Amino acid sequence: MRFATKALRVGQEPDPKFRAVIQPLYQSSTFAWQDLDHIPEIDYTRCTNPNRQSLEQVIAELENGKHCVLFASGMAAISGAFSLLQNGDHLLMATDIYGGTFRLAEKVLPRQGITTSFFDAHKPETIDALVQPNTKLLIFETPTNPNLRVSDIAAVTAAAKKHNLIVVFDNTFASPALQNPLDLGVDIVVHSTTKYIAGHSDVVGGATVTNSSELNLAIFEWNKAIGAVPSPFDCWLSLRGVKTLGCRMKAHCSNALAVAEFLAGHPKVARVHYPGLKDHPDHEVAKKQMKDFGGMVSVELKSVEAARKVAENTQVFLLAESLGGVESLLAYPPLMSHATMTEEQRLERGIPPTMLRLSVGIEDPQDLIDDLTAALALV
Ligand SMILES: Cc1ncc(COP(=O)(O)O)c(C=O)c1O
Repeated sequence: MRFATKALRVGQEPDPKFRAVIQPLYQSSTFAWQDLDHIPEIDYTRCTNPNRQSLEQVIAELENGKHCVLFASGMAAISGAFSLLQNGDHLLMATDIYGGTFRLAEKVLPRQGITTSFFDAHKPETIDALVQPNTKLLIFETPTNPNLRVSDIAAVTAAAKKHNLIVVFDNTFASPALQNPLDLGVDIVVHSTTKYIAGHSDVVGGATVTNSSELNLAIFEWNKAIGAVPSPFDCWLSLRGVKTLGCRMKAHCSNALAVAEFLAGHPKVARVHYPGLKDHPDHEVAKKQMKDFGGMVSVELKSVEAARKVAENTQVFLLAESLGGVESLLAYPPLMSHATMTEEQRLERGIPPTMLRLSVGIEDPQDLIDDLTAALALV
């Protein structure tokens, strides 16, 4: 089966009793045992649930992985991957990581005795010098948030593997429709399923995917112990969403390219960040490793006032956190995704206060362009 078909069919057989085409919602915290001699496959929803199992199967398959563990949020999934670390371990984190992951490294991991060093994913050759005897795990993501830089997944992974590090990759921005990092040697893919996988801005969730039964079991056991699990309804909604991931991503990508090209030609725009543009610094890497260039576009205006004006005056693009839903959203990183960082930390990472991040939805692209045209006219 190919991607679009897998998204619709894997883990989604008609229900055995009535042959319902859509899996029923098993909104039950507990499942009855037949007798004391047979432990049921599913007995308590914190451990697993039929809706969760179906979604785990399809996400694993779409990432070309064997195992998936679902979580209550993307951050819980990243914490699940970090649960492989223990007191005294050292972690390597890409500099331009999602703000919430950075917050974990700054505020949570130190209290568990775990230290972090940052590396530039565009310079995998610098990893050797950063590795310490206690370095255990490396995490990175691409395209990055909000700069949309694309680093070479295979090259970073190979550099980490020289030191036997566990390589964790956040594939939220591309989704499995555009790249499959496990095929490039990554050990664990993490997702905020809140974004493209569920795709409709109506549910928060997360996932880890791996080919290693050992890593999977450790993460699963941690999640069972901690209880950061998704509800059956969250899984049901996400399963409904994932069915259309393939065709949604096609629309996101073609709309994003149209929006990026429009902005690149606009006199009031200082700079556009979209890996699908030929003059993007990582266009060639993106072409090599991604099936298409994604639905995210960042744009720099010529002043903070101009950025604020556009942010507050679009009608189709809604001013909101998050991304990857069918509707277009516009975010202001300093007050939203990167609010945890100081102005200095943001500038070090190339996130100026004149930048807006667009999550381009699947509306008619001309409506998106008209909306941005009208907002830019006010600047
Ligand atoms: C790249 C990336 N990873 C992880 C997360 C965290 O996901 P969640 O909000 O589902 O916890 C986000 C959220 O925006 C994200 O953009």
